[in-house]
This record gives sequence, structure tokens and C-alpha cells, in this order.
Amino acid sequence: MKEHTKKLEILRLLSDGHFHSGEELGEQLNISRAAISKHINVIQSWGLEIYKVKGKGYSLSTPIELLQQELVSHNKLPKPEVLGVVDSTNQYLLNNMTSLECGQSCIAEYQSAGRGRRGRSWVSPFGGNIYLSLYWRLDDGLAATMGLSLAVGIAVVEALENLGCSGLKLKWPNDIYWNNRKLGGVLIELSAQSGGAAHVVIGIGINVDLSERFTSEIDQPWVDLKTILGQNHIRNKLANTLLVSLEETMKAFECFGLSHFIERWNRYDNFKGQEISLQLGNGTVTGVCNGIDAQGALLLINADGLTAYNGGEISIKK
Ligand code: BTN
Repeated sequence: MKEHTKKLEILRLLSDGHFHSGEELGEQLNISRAAISKHINVIQSWGLEIYKVKGKGYSLSTPIELLQQELVSHNKLPKPEVLGVVDSTNQYLLNNMTSLECGQSCIAEYQSAGRGRRGRSWVSPFGGNIYLSLYWRLDDGLAATMGLSLAVGIAVVEALENLGCSGLKLKWPNDIYWNNRKLGGVLIELSAQSGGAAHVVIGIGINVDLSERFTSEIDQPWVDLKTILGQNHIRNKLANTLLVSLEETMKAFECFGLSHFIERWNRYDNFKGQEISLQLGNGTVTGVCNGIDAQGALLLINADGLTAYNGGEISIKK
């Protein structure tokens, strides 16, 4: 992280969207103009668009709202760690798991190796989106994690609704959808030993301002909050609202399990009543989506009757 201190300082100065000369930046950071130029090249590789104009200096193509710990913090949880650059916020918490307090979280400006479900990568350019992870310990062990990712999906939708987003839906098991386009996703990773507590890392990615420049890497229709709400400087508020919603959700999930959430999940289900295909490891099944069961499995009605599926990827039947 230390190696990026100067770059993050440069970004703090450039975040206003105005031009700053190489000389001015060099003076502020106590480094040469040549060093500034090198740092700028790396910053560009993080996905930020920077104008370089002779006689004027450097400016970001648009101002950005940097993350601030005091704005993200929620008083019922340990203070979140705000990271500039990290491989993956989930990996960061997994690496540090033995020393974490339950409820510890981290949020990053940029992930160099952000990951999604099913081995996919998660597009994570600097300063545009939410990359947040939360550590939780479930004392009742692995069995108590059943259906957790569905409850977390609801927590994310409700946080977004609190910020004025409407029309949000969930795609089983936990993609956040708006108008049949993906707005965000949840990746839960855990470690548990038989008979012991389950250590859970809940990772949340939400597209806030996802420039077209990155979307060739995304293999499905997508949307960002800037499109839905018409504003993008909401990352601090959103991260805080997510933590508030997650804290409430985790407490309720610990007490009541998934049963507490099923009615809400069915309300947000993007595919309920629709003919869908479910791609499984060994083929595809089709049927009418009938919500979820008490364990969080997907229910399909087809020629075999009502069947529950624990894994797979939904798509609309063609
Ligand atoms: C998915 O829909 O495939 C899940 C995406 C989860 C992305 C988030 S971003 C924060 C956390 N860190 C990661 O590397 N992944 C999750």
C-alpha cells in the first residue's frame, strides 16, 4: 500500500477535476515533475481518464468523490478500513481473518484482481464504484450460513432503496438487477472447521459510475447508479447505508435464519412466474421459477413437478 501513497496524494489533489501543473503537484508532494509523470501513467492504468495538456498540466476527465472513513463508518460496527489499491477486498479480509473483529469491513477505491462468482473477474476501476467486504463470525457454524447470500442480497437492495433507487430486483441467488440489467453482485467466501464457528467474508460490488471503456469485459447487460439516479457522487453515503443495512441483516439472520427473509426475497425476485433456464454443471434444466425454499434453494416447476436446485445460473428461456 505504501508504494501507492504518492499516487493517492496526487489523486486527492486532482479529485476536484481542475487542472494542476506538474510543477505544482511536484512541489506539494516534494518530488520531481518526472516522478509525477510516472505516477500519472500508473494512475491511468487503474482506469482513470487523465487529460495531459501542455502549459496547463493534468486534470481528471471528471471530478471524483474519494472514499472517507468518517463518512463510511457506522457506529454499531468497527471502523471500516479504507484502502486505495488492493487485489480484492474479499482477499484482504481473508488474509487477515485471524486478527479481525466480527463486523470489521474494508472498502477500496480500486481492485487489481476483483473477483465475482463462478470464477469470473469483477471489473474494478479506480474511484467509480463500490467494492466493499465485511467479516462476520457465525458461532453456529457452517449450517448457519445456509441462505445467507440471499439475505445479503436483500440488505443491498434495501440500502439502495434508502438512497432513492426504485424498481430493484434480485436474480437468484444474489445479483442486484434493475430493468433486467445487472447493477451489482455479492460474493460470499467462508472458512469453517467442523464443529467450529463459520468465518464469513461478504463481498459486495455495485456499479456506481461504470464508464463504457470497461464494459467490453462484462458478459451480460449491466447498469450503474449514475444512470438510475442521475448522480454518481454517492459512494460514501452508499457505503455507509450498506453497512447499516448489513449490520441489521446479519443480526436478524443470526436470530431467525433465512425464514425471516423469504417473503421479501419473493417480492424482489426478478424471475418469479417466468419460464427460465438454469445452467448446471452437467447441463441445463428449464421450468417456471417459483421462488425459493426455506434453505434458499431455487424452486422450478416443470414436468417433474416442483424441484429445488442449490446451484446454477439463471437465464430467460429462449
Ligand atoms: C458477482 O456477482 O459475481 C459477485 C461480485 C462481487 C464483487 C465484490 S467487489 C468487493 C468484493 N471483492 C471482490 O473481489 N469481489 C467482491
